[in-house]
Amino acid sequence: MDVFEALYTTRAMRRVKPDPVPMDVQAQILDAAVRAPSGGNSQGWRFLLVDDRAIIGKIAPLYKDSVEKLWSTVYVDRYQAALADPSAASSITMQRMVSSVQWVADNFAEIPLLLFGMTQGDTSGGSIWPALWNAQLAARAHGVGSAPTSILGFFHPDEVYDILGIPKDEQWIMAAMITMGYPKGKWGVADRRPAHEVSYRNQWGNDIGFEQSEPMWRGTDA
Ligand SMILES: Cc1cc2nc3c(=O)[nH]c(=O)nc-3n(C[C@H](O)[C@H](O)[C@H](O)COP(=O)(O)O)c2cc1C
Repeated sequence: MDVFEALYTTRAMRRVKPDPVPMDVQAQILDAAVRAPSGGNSQGWRFLLVDDRAIIGKIAPLYKDSVEKLWSTVYVDRYQAALADPSAASSITMQRMVSSVQWVADNFAEIPLLLFGMTQGDTSGGSIWPALWNAQLAARAHGVGSAPTSILGFFHPDEVYDILGIPKDEQWIMAAMITMGYPKGKWGVADRRPAHEVSYRNQWGNDIGFEQSEPMWRGTDA
């Protein structure tokens, strides 16, 4: 796969089929992850793949509760605004995200593979996110969809550590839990604010010197 296709079409692919992800594909996902940079090449990470249905089933109610808490705390304003003015463009985007996030909450037990990214001594997560993104790109190259999530580590870390046997006295931080599986839907190019609207040259606020309103990669089958 062309590197730009992977870069432009690796999205939060939340709706996935229950079909298992083969072991050689899982191996490449993690082999690509550990190629990533980390501060001082510290590699202070551990990756935990979970494909045991019984364990996924134990985590499912914790994820569902995390999503409920998300709507009533962090996202409460955006959630209420979307309900109040459902036809506004921002509300439509929000409703799409809500429905996709809720799908994971409602179908968690059917997700075939979870990847937990654990980091030590890296509170910003800056030294593990490149590895997690490498994992997502490698998954994309194999046609496997993935979606990074942080809410489980935010709302229910202790229960998840108990379920997974993660030692609590070694300062492991759950940076993310990434859901993985073969997509139900289609791949598409991520819709984002264009680079020239969020970038400057030489001095803060100065024009970047180019305008790029359309994505520079657009596949025929994306
Ligand atoms: C640091 C980080 C934390 C995230 N946490 C969650 C999460 O807890 N739950 C979730 O469903 N998506 C989560 N996401 C996914 C984002 O919502 C998603 O990347 C964003 O909405 C863009 O979606 P798109 O790539 O499909 O356009 C997270 C992404 C990042 C980078």
